Amino acid sequence: MLTVRAPATSANLGSGFDVFGVALETPADVVRVERAAETTITITGAGSQYIPEDPKQNTVGAVAEALDAPATIRIDKGVRPASGLGSSAASAAAAAVALNALYDRGLSREELVPVAAEGEALVSGEAHADNVAPSLLGGFTIVTDDGVTQVDASVPLVACLPETAVSTRDARGVVPDRAPLSEVVHTVGNAATLAVGMTRDDPDLVGRGMDDGIVTPKRAELIDGYAEVHEAALEAGATGVTVSGAGPGVLAVCHRADRRAVASAMVDAFDDAGIESRAYQTEVGDGATLY
Ligand code: HSE
Repeated sequence: MLTVRAPATSANLGSGFDVFGVALETPADVVRVERAAETTITITGAGSQYIPEDPKQNTVGAVAEALDAPATIRIDKGVRPASGLGSSAASAAAAAVALNALYDRGLSREELVPVAAEGEALVSGEAHADNVAPSLLGGFTIVTDDGVTQVDASVPLVACLPETAVSTRDARGVVPDRAPLSEVVHTVGNAATLAVGMTRDDPDLVGRGMDDGIVTPKRAELIDGYAEVHEAALEAGATGVTVSGAGPGVLAVCHRADRRAVASAMVDAFDDAGIESRAYQTEVGDGATLY
């Protein structure tokens, strides 16, 4: 039996829709695999009751099929589904690493990115790789049609997850097809600023580069309490705040000394809006670990 822990991730970071992603130190999914004649999946942990165990409908089943690697697969969910922290991607990345090793397929982590993204296509309708790439490779990742660029980064983060759920499929439905050039210019400038901030481990630059006026405002409308949580986090010292992935999670960047205050301000603001939430005080973390 092989065991892999793969981290939660936060995609987009505001200005990098479908391009940027970061691995988080916590939470994570743990996947255990054993060779078998056909794939079976059992799921325990956070929100497991909402995830189909039928391999044909499960992100991990798609990975097993893509690698031609049938297995008994046990998933212990630490990353809550539909929370905006790359739940399906964490399971897919863990399964890709585990099955690649179990069947000696010899694929590199980079080569596993499109394999794990097959699982994302099943869940959201599109094989976007901005969650599976950081879950496999760790750090901060930039996904384009030409491949993945990865840098290790050390930036304090808070990921605050309300108890509500938003499906990625629905959240992709509100993304506009077109944007005014002025908004594109603003977003490109911010994305470049954010990427440089990651290479410098600079929470001020990363936070400054998170604002985007194209996708995030539409997604924010799907999240009750978002405006209040955004404002509360900034008041508590966050350098930048945005929707985590497709939401409803909210991601804040801050200095280490402010992280606790930012986390409790976000939870309090959701609470004032009548919504329970949980905040992870975390960091940019490593990619999937094979035990
Ligand atoms: N980039 C994807 C989206 C990530 O925002 O739809 C989903 O987690």
